Amino acid sequence: MSLIETLSFDIRSDGRGDLIAIESGKTVPFEFKRVYYMTNLTSHPRGFHSHKNLQQAAICVKGACTFILDNGSVRESVRLDKPNQGLLIGNMIWREMTDFTEDCVLMVLASEHYDESDYIRDYDEFLALAKTAG
Ligand code: TYD
Repeated sequence: MSLIETLSFDIRSDGRGDLIAIESGKTVPFEFKRVYYMTNLTSHPRGFHSHKNLQQAAICVKGACTFILDNGSVRESVRLDKPNQGLLIGNMIWREMTDFTEDCVLMVLASEHYDESDYIRDYDEFLALAKTAG
């Protein structure tokens, strides 16, 4: 089974532009409590962590970037380059984000409020926990 699960949101276009709506628990299959976004991204990769208990959907609302997802045994990558495309990232998935375009705006919807204690930032610790869970 692929680690890459994407969502495609409807685009409502008219002569004024495009509108994309995202509804918690509807077009995104979990209720989200938090939205954050990254701008002014550079060539530095980001991420390099997983979460113990957090559902997320990443949407590159402008520009493009690459996500690498890793469950401890499989590693896959996907290029996000459409504002109506969402990437689902579940618990215990190590993620790395790379190759941001200069104009990239990366938005993330998250099922829980920010909690640093939910992060696993050490890859060896992640691998050990993923092995136990798997
Ligand atoms: P971090 O999750 O480490 O970013 P990335 O994985 O993209 O490299 O977050 C960067 C900083 O922002 C870190 O100090 C934690 C803080 N932060 C919040 O305060 N609230 C949030 O919702 C998020 C995602 C991060």
